[in-house]
Amino acid sequence: MTTAERVPAADILAPARLGPVTVRNRIIKAATAEGMTPDGLVTDELIDFHRRLAQGGIGVTTLAGCAVAPDAPSATGQIVLRREAVPGLRRLTDAVHAEGAAASVQINHAGPVADVRANGLPAIAPGKLFSLISLRNSRPATAADIERVTQNFVDAALLAVESGFDVVELHMGHNYFVSSFLSPKLNKRTDGFGGALENRARVARDVARRVRDAVQDKAAIIAKLSMDDGVPGGTWLDEALQTAQWLDQDGSLDALEMTVGSSLYNPMYLFKGEAPVADFAAVMPQPVKLGVQMFGKLALKEYPYRDLYLLEQARQFLPVVKTPLILLGGVTDRAGMDTAMAEGFGFVAIGRALLREPDLINQIAANPGKRSLCVHCNRCMPTVYTGTRCVLTTP
Ligand SMILES: Cc1cc2nc3c(=O)[nH]c(=O)nc-3n(C[C@H](O)[C@H](O)[C@H](O)COP(=O)(O)O)c2cc1C
Ligand code: SF4
Repeated sequence: MTTAERVPAADILAPARLGPVTVRNRIIKAATAEGMTPDGLVTDELIDFHRRLAQGGIGVTTLAGCAVAPDAPSATGQIVLRREAVPGLRRLTDAVHAEGAAASVQINHAGPVADVRANGLPAIAPGKLFSLISLRNSRPATAADIERVTQNFVDAALLAVESGFDVVELHMGHNYFVSSFLSPKLNKRTDGFGGALENRARVARDVARRVRDAVQDKAAIIAKLSMDDGVPGGTWLDEALQTAQWLDQDGSLDALEMTVGSSLYNPMYLFKGEAPVADFAAVMPQPVKLGVQMFGKLALKEYPYRDLYLLEQARQFLPVVKTPLILLGGVTDRAGMDTAMAEGFGFVAIGRALLREPDLINQIAANPGKRSLCVHCNRCMPTVYTGTRCVLTTP
């Protein structure tokens, strides 16, 4: 289908289908690690965080980065999707549903970005990769590891459905496990998971297919896919377009959220704007603190911010896939949302502007000229270690 053949622009605020689920509008709160689960289980604070977003008018709120296995978390306290977590997750989805929104959960294996010290387990990746965060090398994953992680995604997705989530988001970006296999820079394997893109895309396609087979239409299945990881020699648009087409042809996904960046080697590439080096150093334990103070400016490269900063890249995918696409990156106001709809995107996802004002959507519904108060200073990023919040809002 070409862009020209797409149906007339949808109303961003009208109900829509996301796979088997009807959502009240086309606005998704993008996953922003909450840092509110010190024991790896849902807390009242986490429920309140998502309840406020649901009350604020979004269609779908996303519980960020739940780990699919004990070796999968990228930070201390991340929820590992296991039976013990289900009652708390159920309370969270009930609270979101009571406010009329749908609940999504992002499920992930951090792969080379796994927090080795917190997990007490080695990080696994396509090969031996050095992590600036854990200051250690990952271990090359065996075929048995890959099969185990794929099954971990399936089991986690089933627990998410049991917990009442309407949407399961598979993380295929940011150089975490699945995306590290896609990258020609990080994946130098010579077996059936390396070399040609067809081999490097196997993990992504298998995870999506097997999760879909298990979940069927009990929830929408979406994926966050990197278009470009901002790492020289890494994933770039040409390969991402092909991967998206394969995922589209496989028919396993109900939507694709287009992202960029590498949590391993180029974290600011996703965000654009200022790098909050001093704020990061302040919350890091030694010796990482010293490393951030000395090399933070080098590691956290800055890129200019502008609204809809991923539009030019994301629109390349519109003519080649039928799967609805989610536009992410600097969506902050009604004009940006309308542009996304006019271009043919199915949904928009918003991170920072909703941290700044959880009720932004209600405000926009009442006043289409409403401008976001987020200044994209990125100082909310280091708050993921202490309870995610906008530093400009009063506590
Ligand atoms: C504090 C914070 C935490 C984030 N945590 C995650 C995360 O856990 N998983 C993820 O995929 N993206 C994460 N992101 C990225 C957002 O999902 C989103 O892609 C990014 O902020 C760009 O969208 P925006 O311009 O609307 O903020 C995070 C962003 C922020 C600001
Ligand atoms: S700290 Fe607040 S104003 Fe700054 S980027 Fe985050 S949400 Fe926006």
